[in-house]
Amino acid sequence: MPVRISMTVNGKPVSAEVEPRTLLVNFIRDHLRLTGTHIGCDTAQCGACTIHMNGAAVKCCNILAVQADGSEIVTIEGIARSDGTMHPMQAAFRDHHGLQCGYCTPGMVMSAIDLVKRHPDPDDKKIREELDGNLCRCTGYHNIVKAVKAGAAAMKT
Ligand code: FES
Ligand code: FES
Repeated sequence: MPVRISMTVNGKPVSAEVEPRTLLVNFIRDHLRLTGTHIGCDTAQCGACTIHMNGAAVKCCNILAVQADGSEIVTIEGIARSDGTMHPMQAAFRDHHGLQCGYCTPGMVMSAIDLVKRHPDPDDKKIREELDGNLCRCTGYHNIVKAVKAGAAAMKT
């Protein structure tokens, strides 16, 4: 039987009726049409679905939409400024060639922002450790590490 849920997504209140089995990632992509949040696996390993829930990065493919009832959600679509200026971490990924196909990028950026909030000056080792749950099939990670470092510096300004 459908269940009514309400939450804030990218600053806007949303409510809907969902099946209890609906995953948060499907709610975000299929119901809200916020398709920047990607699905890259069915084992909660790849991190392509990473969003912020109540301020922390989570993989929303292993959370039910009903579990997010009442929460504050931010997706990749919600991090740029209202005038369209990219978030410093997005700009750093572009400027440091942290992406190729871009499939992993939304999840990488959301994880990186959360990382920098907790570790404002991360070194390469810390960045690699923290991004362990985000897989990239294209870049070899070197430029992602450079991008996260540059993004961390830019987030201070
Ligand atoms: S789709 Fe969520 S971890 Fe891969
Ligand atoms: S840029 Fe293609 S998967 Fe990471």
